[in-house]
Amino acid sequence: MKDPITVSITGAAGQIGYALLTRIASGSMFGPDQPVNLRLIEIEPAMNALAGTVMELDDCAFPLLNEIVPTCDLAEGFTGSDWALLVGSVPRKAGMERADLLGINGKIFTGQGQAIAANAAPGVRTLVVGNPCNTNCLIAMNNAAGIPNDQFFAMTRLDENRAKSQLAAKAGVHNSAVSNMCIWGNHSATQYPDFTNAKIDGKLVTDVISDRAWLEGEFISTVQQRGAAIIAARGQSSATSAANGVVDTVRSLTTPTPEGDWTSVAVCSDGSYGIPEGLIASMPIKSDGKNWSVVQGVELDEFSRGKVDASVAELSEEREAVKDLIPS
Ligand code: NAD
Ligand code: LMR
Repeated sequence: MKDPITVSITGAAGQIGYALLTRIASGSMFGPDQPVNLRLIEIEPAMNALAGTVMELDDCAFPLLNEIVPTCDLAEGFTGSDWALLVGSVPRKAGMERADLLGINGKIFTGQGQAIAANAAPGVRTLVVGNPCNTNCLIAMNNAAGIPNDQFFAMTRLDENRAKSQLAAKAGVHNSAVSNMCIWGNHSATQYPDFTNAKIDGKLVTDVISDRAWLEGEFISTVQQRGAAIIAARGQSSATSAANGVVDTVRSLTTPTPEGDWTSVAVCSDGSYGIPEGLIASMPIKSDGKNWSVVQGVELDEFSRGKVDASVAELSEEREAVKDLIPS
């Protein structure tokens, strides 16, 4: 048996937590031969609900689940963590944009960044899901002194999966036929699902789907507004698909990317594609199974450039809005 991987999950008693924990404990995230320790972090009022979740995990008798530590203490929750999945925060309600949560949620990520730096394993990788996830990640990263910036990520994989599913339905193919789908920028209504570089069965999407007006219009807005559509339909934000996005993100960062393909995740910009350094922006990423890098040389035509720039400008505005939470 391999040594267990320790995964800390905040907001573990919430609805994403509920959908996510069994996926991790059953082996979907790290593979069928990798034991896991779960450190489940909640706020004090949710500890009772968390106890119920722990009972259910016990009742699954997962062969790969080595240890469960439920806690509302950040130091205990992040001790020895190899992966910190920062989900815990308030979701938006109908009529809100994700950035409206910044004032409520942003401050959560200062203490969590500090606690990760003080307690987690040195190689800890942090994936922020709680919204607005790009800027919350920026806050956590800047408060985690000593942890390299390239160990911080924010989730845009759900958007990538949504975009693939929309393109596949339009083209009448299975979603596995869609590759090279990059979400650029912010996990917000300005995100740009880049259909100009995406492929279906190895051919450019624009050669397969001739309806350019649909690609530039309804396709983009459907992906941008999918979270709001789910809230309108369910009365609650996405949970199963969000948990699946977390599993896919971690798997894509820890397994080699298929040759020629890429995946979407928001990372700390190194200035690639003219995105200002230090912003947490989604871009095309590949992994060799251990280390990730930005895929270079993806062509951005005038239409795409305008969309990427608009989303990146929003990220700069969000950074300005939270400057008090970022140590200088
Ligand atoms: P939820 O309200 O069901 O659960 C959130 C949980 O977080 C609650 O149990 C709450 O007690 C806990 N929590 C709150 N503050 C905390 C803190 N400081 N420390 C630890 N736990 C804390 O919400 P949810 O549906 O699970 O969504 C969680 C977040 O994920 C929301 O911000 C939502 O908008 C976001 N989200 C992001 C994506 C994405 O693609 N990036 C997708 C879906 C949802
Ligand atoms: C989503 O994309 O489903 C989440 O970010 C939740 C939301 O507020 O839209």
